[in-house]
Amino acid sequence: MKLVSVWTVAALLPSCLGAEIYVSPSGSDDATGAIASPLKSIQAAVDLATAGSTIYLREGTYSPTTNIQITKSGSAGSPIVLQAYEGEKVVIDGEEMPGTPAELDASLDNDDRGILHIQDAEYWEFYDLELINGPYGVYSRDASNNHYERIITRDNYESGFQLQGAASNNSVFYLDSYGNRDPRKNGESADGFACKEGEGEGNILRGARLWNNVDDGLDLWEFKSAVTIEDTISWGNGVNRWDFSPFEGDGNGFKLGGGGDGEIGPANHIITNCIAFENSKDGFTDNSQTGDFTLTRNTASNNAAVGFKFASAVATLNDNIAAANGEKPTSLSADQISEGNSWDGSESWTDSSFISVDTTLVQGSRAASGLIEASDFLLPKSGEAIGATTHWS
Ligand SMILES: *[C@@H]1O[C@H](CO)[C@@H](O)[C@H](O)[C@H]1NC(C)=O
Repeated sequence: MKLVSVWTVAALLPSCLGAEIYVSPSGSDDATGAIASPLKSIQAAVDLATAGSTIYLREGTYSPTTNIQITKSGSAGSPIVLQAYEGEKVVIDGEEMPGTPAELDASLDNDDRGILHIQDAEYWEFYDLELINGPYGVYSRDASNNHYERIITRDNYESGFQLQGAASNNSVFYLDSYGNRDPRKNGESADGFACKEGEGEGNILRGARLWNNVDDGLDLWEFKSAVTIEDTISWGNGVNRWDFSPFEGDGNGFKLGGGGDGEIGPANHIITNCIAFENSKDGFTDNSQTGDFTLTRNTASNNAAVGFKFASAVATLNDNIAAANGEKPTSLSADQISEGNSWDGSESWTDSSFISVDTTLVQGSRAASGLIEASDFLLPKSGEAIGATTHWS
């Protein structure tokens, strides 16, 4: 039956132009995929899509029992788009998928990783999807030239969003990734956003919020190339909210590298206008990564350990603020280039240096564009143009 229906749908799709394919939790895989006759399974729509197709998900919660495999490509002028239909709320719940969670100390097969498992697939665009309770939320392996916008990844059993392996020209805008944890590792590896064990140019994370994840907010472990990170806020990571014992979570706001000998390459990461607050370890750390980093106008406040910690990379630090961090504002080796930062002056920065330290100001819902509401959060009372601002442009 299913084969016949899929064939029927294929016959209905125009071959010259990208088609629209509709999916609904109340649809049927015997349907045509037209708006009035939506499919039920997202995978069925992915299997039908060709370059230029748009897959529209109608509102509701999808609960597939196996993850969604995306292993084909669009093309540069004709991407394949997977998105919620016209502002409708779409949740994909991975709870019924394998690996939710895997046993303690067990591995998770590559193919099982991710509610969306994107491998060797290029020129996809994803908009307005919430991915929950999965074996990772988004898991991209050896995939380039993909775009993700207004994705929520929460409460997954591994990292919320992970780019793995060869990865170039991926853009991730306005990601909210929170509450992700890894029972199989007691907190050792579930991050909000991770770019791991690979290399590639042109990857950018913009406007993300990464919070209350068990390990780090952001982790660029064994990724050997520059990643651009801007307008991103990371808080509350590395706290044992799941009673894991022993607890292995790290809790850096921005862990900008790390790994074994030979797995660390010079990665010239560029970090601009980012905020780390109330993480259980450091705000920003190179974590033994090498490379020429550029950190401009970031703020680390109230993290448990150090605000900015750079010893192996050579970071150019300009106009950043470290305030009220538990151990000390900075830990910088002699090679670091530091100018115009809060710690380069004579005053000591505390909560009272800011107009507002009300952390709820950055936790509201996003506008349809993806922007969060601009506020006075962590703006210096002095009016100096240093540190991060939520008045993004
Ligand atoms: C990334 O984008 C650049 C500029 O468009 C392009 O030259 C390069 O080939 C792309 N890289 C990959 C791996 O597709």
